[in-house]
Amino acid sequence: MEKNTYKLVVLVGSVREGRFGPVVSSWVAEQAVAHGGFEVEVVDLGEFELPLALPAAPPKSAGADYPRPAGMAGLTEALAGADAVLIVTPEYNHSYPASLKAAIDWHFTQWTAKPVAFVSYGGAAGGRHAVLHLENVLTELHAVTVRDGLSFPNYFTAWTDGRPDDPRAAGHAKAMLDQLAWWAAALKNARAAAPYPA
Ligand SMILES: Cc1cc2nc3c(=O)[nH]c(=O)nc-3n(C[C@H](O)[C@H](O)[C@H](O)COP(=O)(O)O)c2cc1C
Repeated sequence: MEKNTYKLVVLVGSVREGRFGPVVSSWVAEQAVAHGGFEVEVVDLGEFELPLALPAAPPKSAGADYPRPAGMAGLTEALAGADAVLIVTPEYNHSYPASLKAAIDWHFTQWTAKPVAFVSYGGAAGGRHAVLHLENVLTELHAVTVRDGLSFPNYFTAWTDGRPDDPRAAGHAKAMLDQLAWWAAALKNARAAAPYPA
């Protein structure tokens, strides 16, 4: 029987000059392709227009007519078409970067009833403060956050040539991706069966 594949967006959350985010995201995307359950698209927030000033109405009530900048269209389309999202985030001042908050706040229905998993990196806490905040925020948009994630503490001494030094990392990624694929299937079926009551 042919295996179902689900559209997975790997979101590169940082846009800082000289950022490490693309290194982590590229390795994570490689793990997701190797997993076999996903059609993987890397979506880099650094490539989109993400102004902080929002329109007057919140995106939840404005629906498809929400007046987003033209340079955000690719991001909106990718999120709308995703069956699952994997957010790659660093930790900035014990939270996640403003670029990610803007990407979240400019959208609403695109996140609803979709599973979201996390890969984080940073200093001693490995970006976990960022993930805890993201879990909180994404619940408000009716997204479903996946319990298992990857965290890379002190990433600057833990990665070599674009790969984590810890040989267990690929196994942890597989566990996370198995959970993400399970939720992607469950929620895709549920969305098709009945509109989500949000
Ligand atoms: C504004 C700012 C605040 C930061 N705050 C934290 C922090 O609270 N905890 C932490 O572990 N690392 C912190 N860092 C270090 C980042 O985790 C590290 O610079 C990482 O490379 C950032 O990801 P990026 O390179 O993809 O932007 C901070 C970095 C910046 C730029």
